[in-house]
Amino acid sequence: MYFTTADIAARRERLAAQWQEQLNDDEAVLVYCGQPIQKPGGLDITYPFLPHPAYFWLTGRRREEEVLLYSKGEGWVEFQKEWTKEQAVWEGDRNDLLVQQPGKDLTELEDYLKSKHFSTVYALGQAPGNPAVEGKAFILRTLMDQTRRVKDAAEVKLVRAIADIAARGYRTLKAAIRPGVSEKELQLVFETEILRCGAHTVPYDTIVGSGPNAATLHALPTARIIGENELVLVDAGADIYDYCVDITRTFGSSAAIGSRRKDLYGLVLSVQQECISMTQAGAWWRDVHGHAAKRFTEGLLGFGIFKGSLDTLIEKEVIAPFFPHGLGHLVGLRVRDTGQEENLSPKKYFGSRLRVDLRLEAGHLITVEPGLYFIKALLEDRELMKPYQDYINQQELEHWKTIGGVRIEDNILITETGNENLTAAVEKVEEL
Ligand code: GLY
Ligand code: MN
Ligand code: MN
Repeated sequence: MYFTTADIAARRERLAAQWQEQLNDDEAVLVYCGQPIQKPGGLDITYPFLPHPAYFWLTGRRREEEVLLYSKGEGWVEFQKEWTKEQAVWEGDRNDLLVQQPGKDLTELEDYLKSKHFSTVYALGQAPGNPAVEGKAFILRTLMDQTRRVKDAAEVKLVRAIADIAARGYRTLKAAIRPGVSEKELQLVFETEILRCGAHTVPYDTIVGSGPNAATLHALPTARIIGENELVLVDAGADIYDYCVDITRTFGSSAAIGSRRKDLYGLVLSVQQECISMTQAGAWWRDVHGHAAKRFTEGLLGFGIFKGSLDTLIEKEVIAPFFPHGLGHLVGLRVRDTGQEENLSPKKYFGSRLRVDLRLEAGHLITVEPGLYFIKALLEDRELMKPYQDYINQQELEHWKTIGGVRIEDNILITETGNENLTAAVEKVEEL
C-alpha cells in the first residue's frame, strides 16, 4: 500500500487551506485526470495512459476521464468511472486504484454542476480541450503545485524504495561496464535489473553515452562498443506509479583513464558535493547554480582550457558552452515535477536557462546535476563561440574535445535542518 486514505485527506486539507483566500464560496474547482491519447494512425491504439499528476496526488486513482471537484460548501467530491465489462475483458483488474474512496458516477457530473449553480468552475489538471489556464485558474494551479511540491512522508517513503531499486540497477550496471560492451547492452542490464527488482518502468529514456557520446546531454544508447579508458555516462532512473528517481553516474571503462578525464571527474564531483551542501531551505536555486558555474570556470582555468582573469571569465560567462544546462529540476512525481509557474519566462544564468527558479523550502525534492561537456555542436559553432574565443586556449581545448563529458546527479530532499540525499545508496566512484 503506497498511499492511505489519511494521506489523501491530509493532502486535500493542505490544498484547501491554500485555496481558502482565493476561492469564493460560490466557486468550484475541477481537477481532471485526463484522457488516453490516440497514437497517430493507430486506430484504436493509444499511448499508455498517464493520469494527470495533480489528480493522482489528490485521489490515489489512475483511471482515465475521472474528475475531482472542490468547493467550500461541498468539500471534495469524486466523480468516478465505472469499470466496464469490456474493460474487464481486455484489461483485467488494472490495479490502478491505490486508494479506495466512495464517489459519484462520472455521468452525474453535468447535472451536479447545474444543480449547484456555481458562479465559476475552474478547470485544472488535464481538462478536455486543454484550455489555457489564466487569471484565477492560474493562481489556483500555482497554489496547488506549490502545495504538491512539498513532499509528504508517504511520497518520500515511495521515492526511497524506488531509489533502492535504482541502486541495485546501478550496482549490476557497474559490474557490466568494460571495454567491448555496447551502450545498448548497458541499458538492458540496468533496465532488466530494476524491472526485476520491482520498478514499473523507466521515468525517461535511459541515457548511456560512452566516449564522445558522453557529451550528448540526452544520449540514447547505441550499438557503439565501449573502448579502453573512456568515460561512460549513464543517466538512468526507475519509476513506480509515476514516482521516480533521476540519477546520473559517470564511470571509467578501464583503470588507466588518464589525467584529463580524472581531473574532469574530480572537478564535477567536488562541485556536486558543494552544491548539495548549499541545497537548503531558504537558498535561491539560481545561487546554487551560480556557484557551480563559478567553480567550473575556476576549474577550467586551472586545467588551462580558459585564460585570463577569473573575474573576467565569470563576467563573460565563458562557462556557458561547457555547462549548457541548469543545475537541476524538481523531481518526484514524474521526472520534471512542478516548477514551471515561477519560471514562465526563464531568465538565463551563466548562459543556462534554469528549469526552476525558486527559493527552496523544506519538503522540496530537487536534482543536483552539475555537468561539464565538450559538445561538438557548440564548440564548432563559430558564431556562438565568438564572444568566448579570446578566453579559450584552443590548443589545450583540442586535447579535451573527444573526452565527452561528466555529469553526476542525485535527488536531494530538503529538510527543516538541512537535506538528505535520497539517492545516496547509488554508489559513486570517488575517483576515476
Ligand atoms: N534524466 C534527464 C535529466 O536529468 O533531466
Ligand atoms: Mn535530471
Ligand atoms: Mn538525469
